[in-house]
Amino acid sequence: MNILGIETSCDETAVSICQNGKIISSIVDSQQSHSEFGGVVPEIASRMHEKLLLNTMSTCLNNALMSKKELDAVAVTVGPGLMGALLTGVSFAKGLSVGLDIPLIAINHMEAHLFSNFIEYPDLKFPFLCLLVSGGHTQIWNVNDFRDYQLLGDTRDDAAGEAFDKGARLLGLSYPGGVEIEKKSKNGNPHKYKFPIALSKSDKIEFSFSGLKSSLLRFTQKYDGKIPKDILPDVASSYQFAIIDALLNKLKLAVEKTKINTIVIGGGVAANCSLREKTSFFFKNSKVLYPSLKLCTDNAAMIAFLGEKLFKKGIKSNISVGVYPNLKLDDFLD
Ligand code: KG4
Ligand code: ZN
Repeated sequence: MNILGIETSCDETAVSICQNGKIISSIVDSQQSHSEFGGVVPEIASRMHEKLLLNTMSTCLNNALMSKKELDAVAVTVGPGLMGALLTGVSFAKGLSVGLDIPLIAINHMEAHLFSNFIEYPDLKFPFLCLLVSGGHTQIWNVNDFRDYQLLGDTRDDAAGEAFDKGARLLGLSYPGGVEIEKKSKNGNPHKYKFPIALSKSDKIEFSFSGLKSSLLRFTQKYDGKIPKDILPDVASSYQFAIIDALLNKLKLAVEKTKINTIVIGGGVAANCSLREKTSFFFKNSKVLYPSLKLCTDNAAMIAFLGEKLFKKGIKSNISVGVYPNLKLDDFLD
């Protein structure tokens, strides 16, 4: 069985093929045009997807030594994400579905992040806790079973990825901010500066990162908005420390409350090595899993993989399926 996956929810144009649970080809074209703007420009993202999709798909098929005719279904992200960007992928997928006369499978991008862990850990068993951390999400879910998800905690304001991206901008670093802050942190002292860790005393599982960002803004203002090069690694490292500590504090609460001791991390921020190492260290008595780096940030392998899983369960979508910029993990479309 060959399932083509298409991902265009933000600034990665990605196509992949999943064949009987194995990813046999995966291409991610990361759009470079946004870095000069310090963030994703929705209009540019849509235009770039439109321009890149056909070639990305051809390269993906060539890599797999496969023709379009061998595809059994096409899976595509329908949300959450940028409206225009989603529309380009969904329209393209609908064209393939009609042209090749194969089923269309609508994919929830967050559910795909969640399931990306099963690509490398097929023996992963329910229930488990999932820390979903991306550019738009910071949530802890109790994953009881397939499509039995309970939200344990969310962010009141910014997502962790957003805190990285906005922080990077304040520090004069480029987009995506998480990668840049992580790089700069390497030679820094995480305890040099104290940035606030919001809600650390509360026993509720919830996050807030807007105060942290404001605190960094005030810090940069002391230097007229330009952090001196010699202290940049310490500032970046201390800022990263505050984000990760907030995540670990609440993950600890979730483990205590649920007594579930398998922890899975998903989403772009899961690519952060410090977060990965600290989670494994902090939760020594739990099983901690995270996808390999290329499966953390946006990709189509996770779309094709979940597409195959849904297809096998007989879950398909109508050709009139829409796009859902604010889709939640537990909004099921079928
Ligand atoms: O999952 P993703 O690629 O896209 C969304 O679904 O949002 O996540 C993107 C986010 C961005 O905010 C980016 O700064 C962050 O993931 N990110 C990282 C790292 N790599 C990407 N954050 C921290 N450390 C990283 N190494
Ligand atoms: Zn994502």
